[in-house]
Amino acid sequence: MLLGHLLHLNRIDSVIIENRSREYVIERVRAGVLEQGTVDLMIAMGVGERLKRQGLRHDGLYISFDGRRHHINMAELTGGSAITVYGQNEVVKDLIEARIETGRPLYFEVEEVSVDAVDSSQPQIRFLHEGTVHELGCDFIAGCDGFHGISRPSIPSGFLTNYERVYPFGWLGILAEAAPSSEELVYTYHERGFALFSMRSPKVTRLYFQVPPEEDIENWSDDAIWDEMLERMTTRDGWKPNVGLILQKSVTPMRSFVAAPMRFGNMFLAGDSAHIVPPTGAKGLNLAASDVLVLARALKEFYERGNTTCLDQYSDICLRRVWKAQRFSWWMTSSLHRFTDESPFDHQRQIADLDYLTSSRAAMTSLAEQYVGLPAEVSFQSAGL
Ligand code: DHB
Repeated sequence: MLLGHLLHLNRIDSVIIENRSREYVIERVRAGVLEQGTVDLMIAMGVGERLKRQGLRHDGLYISFDGRRHHINMAELTGGSAITVYGQNEVVKDLIEARIETGRPLYFEVEEVSVDAVDSSQPQIRFLHEGTVHELGCDFIAGCDGFHGISRPSIPSGFLTNYERVYPFGWLGILAEAAPSSEELVYTYHERGFALFSMRSPKVTRLYFQVPPEEDIENWSDDAIWDEMLERMTTRDGWKPNVGLILQKSVTPMRSFVAAPMRFGNMFLAGDSAHIVPPTGAKGLNLAASDVLVLARALKEFYERGNTTCLDQYSDICLRRVWKAQRFSWWMTSSLHRFTDESPFDHQRQIADLDYLTSSRAAMTSLAEQYVGLPAEVSFQSAGL
């Protein structure tokens, strides 16, 4: 959706197809932390009005361990950058409205999608929509269809190198009708495992804790979830999340994954179709946004000047950022979770890591500059903004 709007702003035609319904993508709660650069991009694209009104800007965050919360003032450490809490589904909602206003094609609930002749100059997409088969002849295909989409598996085996790491835990997440009891996020390392306090609005709290990877959500009653949240998050000064009605609950597995290169012929992979990060640090959505900014610039260069250099550089440019975000997400995950195979030495070292992180200005600055987002790979101007 973001790429479609960037292309529209550059007067480049596109067709967007999505296999879910409009209601599903608008309602399904997913990530919620936007880097400073993602916020700036939405505003520069003219789709940031509601984000500016309803997004919750956070200048800092807390790291909690041994029953104490430690504040990290990201804005002060980064010269004024912050993150904004605004649900991914809200971003999607705004982009759908912007798309519909342009009158450009957007199909929901498509089925039987396949791609063909991807390594030729006229790749094709076939899909079924409301009982009719559509065949699109394209210049390019952007595979923005997520980890389980069809784009990546359509690439001949052996062409891509896959890098993967799975973690011995998942996150149990809830959305609760409860006013957030902290204005900023709290990442907690507890003897019983990781926990995270977040929010979606002044009335809705979003919380997570570490569970075994195959945990069945049916094993957790609402009362048991609250007991565990409170046990892990309550600090010595008495801070704890407000309890309320649980609106949604689910378990998310965790993995790190990169497929390289992010291009095959005239198909370009972007976002989760090419890479997955574990959720700690909230990089997934932001990486997808930076991929499509790089792709938009490359397509603009091609259509305006017939120049293919930027298309050829797409994968390398994106992967540099992807690997830094992989490293950061792996580090945040490793620092804050308990591992099944850890030794007493590992455990003490981990506590010392957190002690260092929350007491050294250099360490806090390193966290802050990565958390708010490293500088964009390409300028907004070069992507036609
Ligand atoms: C949220 C998710 C994250 O993975 C994270 O690191 C911070 C916040 C959230 O859903 O609010």
